[in-house]
Amino acid sequence: MVDVMHLLPMMLSLLFLYLSINANEVHCYEEKALSLQTFQWKQQSGNNPSCLSRKSRKENGATILEMKHTDYRSGKIIDWNKKLQKRLILDDFHVRSLQSRFKNTASAAGTIGVSEAQMPLTSGIKLQTLNYIVTIGLGGRNMTVIVDTGSDLTWVQCQPCKLCYDQQEPLFNPSSSPSYQSVFCNSSTCQSLQFASRNPGICGSNQLTTCNYVVNYGDGSYTRGELAREHLNLGTTPVNNFVFGCGRNNKGLFGGASGLMGLGRSDLSVISQSSAIFGGVFSYCLPSTEAGASGSLAMGGDSSVFKNFTPISYTRMVPNPQLSTFYFLNLTGISIGGVALQAPSFGKGGILIDSGTVITRLAPSVYEAVKAEFLKQFSGFPPAPGFSILDTCFNLSGYQEVNIPAIKFHFEGNSEMYVDVTGIFYFVKTDASQVCLALASLSYEDEIGIIGNYQQKNQRVVYDSKQSMLGFAGESCSFI
Ligand SMILES: *[C@@H]1O[C@H](CO)[C@@H](O)[C@H](O)[C@H]1NC(C)=O
Ligand SMILES: *[C@@H]1O[C@H](CO)[C@@H](O)[C@H](O)[C@H]1NC(C)=O
Ligand SMILES: *[C@@H]1O[C@H](CO)[C@@H](O)[C@H](O)[C@H]1NC(C)=O
Ligand SMILES: *[C@@H]1O[C@H](CO)[C@@H](O)[C@H](O)[C@H]1NC(C)=O
Repeated sequence: MVDVMHLLPMMLSLLFLYLSINANEVHCYEEKALSLQTFQWKQQSGNNPSCLSRKSRKENGATILEMKHTDYRSGKIIDWNKKLQKRLILDDFHVRSLQSRFKNTASAAGTIGVSEAQMPLTSGIKLQTLNYIVTIGLGGRNMTVIVDTGSDLTWVQCQPCKLCYDQQEPLFNPSSSPSYQSVFCNSSTCQSLQFASRNPGICGSNQLTTCNYVVNYGDGSYTRGELAREHLNLGTTPVNNFVFGCGRNNKGLFGGASGLMGLGRSDLSVISQSSAIFGGVFSYCLPSTEAGASGSLAMGGDSSVFKNFTPISYTRMVPNPQLSTFYFLNLTGISIGGVALQAPSFGKGGILIDSGTVITRLAPSVYEAVKAEFLKQFSGFPPAPGFSILDTCFNLSGYQEVNIPAIKFHFEGNSEMYVDVTGIFYFVKTDASQVCLALASLSYEDEIGIIGNYQQKNQRVVYDSKQSMLGFAGESCSFI
């Protein structure tokens, strides 16, 4: 029996125009209404033993998996204020580790990975920010895994296990699956690990031993084990001979999930391995974080299965040979309430989109411009102290509803991403006494910007690796 924490859906309303009259000019800002009154936390009496079984369906050749937030899997009663605060601190660790990976890779281009197999591991920092989950079928078993667009190898915790964190489902047992096959060191699959995990397969001198893998997520989290092949089912669609990691030594709080599904760009990702079936295209709609709503992960590019209410707006994926796992885009501008901002880094390429980072990070000059314009338009509200990486906060507990400036990201090719009204403010306190602009600054101008999952909510985000295009469309996420 699992108690499901559950938030009444925030009342989301339509976009409308609001007139703000200055002494001698008239501004017409685009705003969105956010109802604060209904932002209450409620515990649903848990009586749902099938809480773990995510649904899937097949439609017009696309396979659609139900996607949820990991917080809904916790059996414990959660102090939401603490949880919301902790999530930001973990997000900061996650982004710092990504930035250090970018730096290492940039300076060690060409010799990537070889020395990293011996990289010292530090413990304690959790991967809780990689926080959307789906259920896949592996060797006839249902396994709930975290969805990560920032890595490639899919893995599950495996018996016999040397070190496994607590997970909710029973461990995967290769010896009870007749379709399980070890991958040997003499295979090219073992060699492809170099690119997928930036660590070569660990083999020793005997080429006939099984190929062992190591994936370090850079923040002390890791998985190690044996590379293997197994029957994968994505919904009802089979992917035979799927290469995955049978993890025997895994550390990091992976949200109690059984493992992780890598949706990155390299050969070993589930996208590359299923490209004969799905054409290298997938998309997701990330549900609003706290609403207990479900979103979907759709494999395949048939857009008729999407429920988008705006057309899909595509931009080019910017190639980055040194960071080939990640999806980079060319951010050409940001507008706040319809006012286009100026910043030197727009149009220089290189912001990455990631499902595993929560809060969007912007170069300091871009963030300062965003903050200044936001404060200009969202004025007259009592300020509140900053929290963690968030420095633009308000006490909105005295309000029932506020109009907040619309935020839009612009990309090469006149592509636009409209930030959903649930993605603009982060509620540090559930009573709205500390509500912060959900964007943060990087420490340095030359660090890589990241579009986090908080700003991707309630949109269809389409990744087309074959055509190197990424698209955005407004959608109210729901699985059904
Ligand atoms: C896996 O989950 C699906 C959907 O919930 C269910 O129909 C199926 O029976 C499950 N399979 C196993 C082996 O538990
Ligand atoms: C690798 O070794 C295994 C075990 O001896 C053998 O069955 C397989 O054919 C070899 N594969 C290659 C590509 O040499
Ligand atoms: C980004 O897009 C802008 C506008 O289309 C273009 O001028 C610029 O060259 C692009 N930058 C990169 C790095 O591709
Ligand atoms: C927030 O505002 C409310 C209503 O205006 C006030 O009663 C409360 O004391 C404020 N809370 C904090 C933490 O400042």
